[in-house]
Amino acid sequence: MFIPCVTTQTCSTPNHPPPPPKHTTGRRDATSADPGDRLPPESLSTAGQLAVFASMGLSPTGMVALLGSHTLGGKGFGDPLTFDATYYRTLLQKPWNDPKVEMSSMIGIPTDRVLPDDPVCRPIIERFAQDEAAFFQEFVKAYVYLCTVNHQET
Ligand code: HEM
Repeated sequence: MFIPCVTTQTCSTPNHPPPPPKHTTGRRDATSADPGDRLPPESLSTAGQLAVFASMGLSPTGMVALLGSHTLGGKGFGDPLTFDATYYRTLLQKPWNDPKVEMSSMIGIPTDRVLPDDPVCRPIIERFAQDEAAFFQEFVKAYVYLCTVNHQET
């Protein structure tokens, strides 16, 4: 994202000097991580999650793509440091229901676990589980939107 942005914004033709660089590098409108009222509760239903993300202008596809970032970290969606589509493949397997899986009760958070049972989210999860490139594409769209919505860089 950053490199194409730099390239397109700094290249010039002889008669058109480059505009001053303007790069999207993240928003700076919070002074601390996770301000109290922003993250939905873990107990929220899928309908509730869809409503929260819709209120920010995000479609179900955008929401499901963003939640794929839970593949990072220690909630049992594959390698904690690898950003890939393991989140979706794991959601379809529902390992938290399988006592034979090690630490099954620790896998996912409640908002993740309810997603595969939702008729709107299910087909999106199935698509991303099979097509990692589609996940990456939708994630980029939704993440860039999330970083810029209602935000004026100063
Ligand atoms: C319904 C919305 C969401 C809820 C309720 C939620 C909740 C949480 C919780 C409770 C954790 C900590 C899990 C643990 O290790 O115990 C977590 C981790 C994380 N969340 Fe979310 N989240 C939501 C949406 C998002 C979104 C939209 C993003 C990014 C676009 C995101 C990115 C992450 C990442 C990267 C981690 C792992 C952090 C780490 O382990 O270092 N989450 N989330």
